[in-house]
Amino acid sequence: MCGIVGYIGPRQAADVLLSGLARLEYRGYDSAGIVVNGEQPDLEVRKTEGKLANLRQLLADRPVQGKSGIGHTRWATHGPPNEVNAHPHLDCSGKIVVVHNGIIENFAQLRTQLVSSGHRFVSDTDSEVIAHLIEHYLHHVADQDRPSERDFLQAVTQTIMRLEGAYALAIMHRDFPDMLVAARKDSPLIIGHGVGENIIASDIPAVLEYTHEVVVLHDGELALVHADDLEVFNLSLERLEPELMDIEWDLADTEKGEYEDFMLKEIYEQPRALRDTLRGRMADDGTLQLSELAMSDDEIRELRHVYLIACGTSYHAGRIAKILIERWAQLSVDVVASSEFRYGSPLIDEHTLIVAITQSGETTDTMAGVTEAHLKRARVIGITNVLGSRITREADGILYTVAGPEIGVAATKTFTTQIAAVTVLALKLAQVRGTLPQAEIEALFAELSRVPDLVERVLADTDAIVAAAALFEGVDSSLFLGRGIGVPVAMEGALKLKEISYIHAEAYPAGEMKHGPIALITSRVPVVAVATSSATHEKVLSNVAETQARDARVLLVGTQGDQKLAALADHVIYVPEVSELLSPIVSVVPLQLLAYHVTKARGCNPDMPRNLAKSVTVE
Ligand code: M6R
Repeated sequence: MCGIVGYIGPRQAADVLLSGLARLEYRGYDSAGIVVNGEQPDLEVRKTEGKLANLRQLLADRPVQGKSGIGHTRWATHGPPNEVNAHPHLDCSGKIVVVHNGIIENFAQLRTQLVSSGHRFVSDTDSEVIAHLIEHYLHHVADQDRPSERDFLQAVTQTIMRLEGAYALAIMHRDFPDMLVAARKDSPLIIGHGVGENIIASDIPAVLEYTHEVVVLHDGELALVHADDLEVFNLSLERLEPELMDIEWDLADTEKGEYEDFMLKEIYEQPRALRDTLRGRMADDGTLQLSELAMSDDEIRELRHVYLIACGTSYHAGRIAKILIERWAQLSVDVVASSEFRYGSPLIDEHTLIVAITQSGETTDTMAGVTEAHLKRARVIGITNVLGSRITREADGILYTVAGPEIGVAATKTFTTQIAAVTVLALKLAQVRGTLPQAEIEALFAELSRVPDLVERVLADTDAIVAAAALFEGVDSSLFLGRGIGVPVAMEGALKLKEISYIHAEAYPAGEMKHGPIALITSRVPVVAVATSSATHEKVLSNVAETQARDARVLLVGTQGDQKLAALADHVIYVPEVSELLSPIVSVVPLQLLAYHVTKARGCNPDMPRNLAKSVTVE
């Protein structure tokens, strides 16, 4: 939540900051701002309420010149999304300026202390205390008129040690136009290391235009950034060796190309993303290759219980994983929303495996669950899409999805690749534990490898999906039903619809309808049911008939060739035949597209739904 960017080098900083913020806008879009250190030197601040387009216009009207600067796109936590609360924030002297992503939990206490010692605050944000606190410490460590770079760094370090909560920071001082400071704890931050230029950013897409070489800043580290030099320190100001990584993503991966929206592009990228995620996972001798789990076969055999923790869409991938692991590996599994896991009483011992699923690798709730699991000495495997993200450093083993950057706030290709990853994981656990015959494992993997082709077939003909979107015209509420592995698919379909179209959508196990929710059914509450071939197929259809008897208008996702469906529903979207346990990827794709088309018909922006941000780094 919130995107930050910083630039120092030979280019006009404002141009780089704007293009970086555009690539980070998915992290927050209720206000934006930049500050550039001009030639004088002088800090030129420009900030506005609303989306980045407003800031772009302001900069066209009142341009700023200078070769270093920092910028921010905000997802409001403390204080309404107006111009005053937009970042950057300055100290009283107007020389120290800060952009911040995260939450300073002890800001109220710090603010009271600073106010009583004479500091004047202008915003409601927690972030502004950081600028004032640096000013306070700089006053103590340096001759105010002539602080050195080192004094400034020391004041930043002392400030950081007073902060409780999460932060990624980019900081400038008016009198040091050749230097930026970056620091982080529990919020993501990287530095793109270019030739004669450096770019600080919350996420990789913001730097790809300039460099593919990235320094990942770790918790408790800060960086002193010059145009041609970059030093990393710990909080005792001891120098550390920067961890450099080469990023393979292309700039084109972060652009819409021929598509109207990122969400649509990312839906269409799924066949490629799935193939890349599955590539190389089965050796010629039929052994599943998951060495990144860093678990011995004995450790896998000794497992007694698995907890899957995740949020939102990733939680739905966890619900699918539970079904697969229980069925194939004969291990009991609990799936817990990460925000509940850390405050519950999970029963964890050395035979418990925690699998944390998070596409961003940064979700605060999930990372808090990982910390909790480690405190209880459990082994943690992370499933993520982002190289170098927090979970890659904190989990004991990592399984990557290879979806490429996902910019749309609604998760699509990261979800289906998560399903592919957990399917391979479940098969691997079964293989090592000897709970599924090898021939069956090979047959299932072979079928899974064909799923990307099936998704391609769904994407090749979307007329029925576009037509079905008409069911939602003028509608305020809807129900999504399924049974068995169709329940998490229905849950994901409902989440997609509600988060981008703002139509209420409730997912329910179809058999539970009669215990309450059926009371909601009217002709104005469409029912979407996952009715693909399954052991409970007939039961799903009976439950759907019960809603139709109460005037519901019905959309079924069914299996190609299932002739009877047309007579049972207002709309049917057919998907290719696939085994029941491998069906979620194929059946969720039309639901993603349904949500997309309903949203477009309502004139909403699927990439930037209101109140949401892509990466949720607050509790
Ligand atoms: O990065 P994560 O997978 O941890 O994110 C979890 C959720 O915040 C995320 O899936 C969210 O629900 C999406 N907006 C769903 O489309």
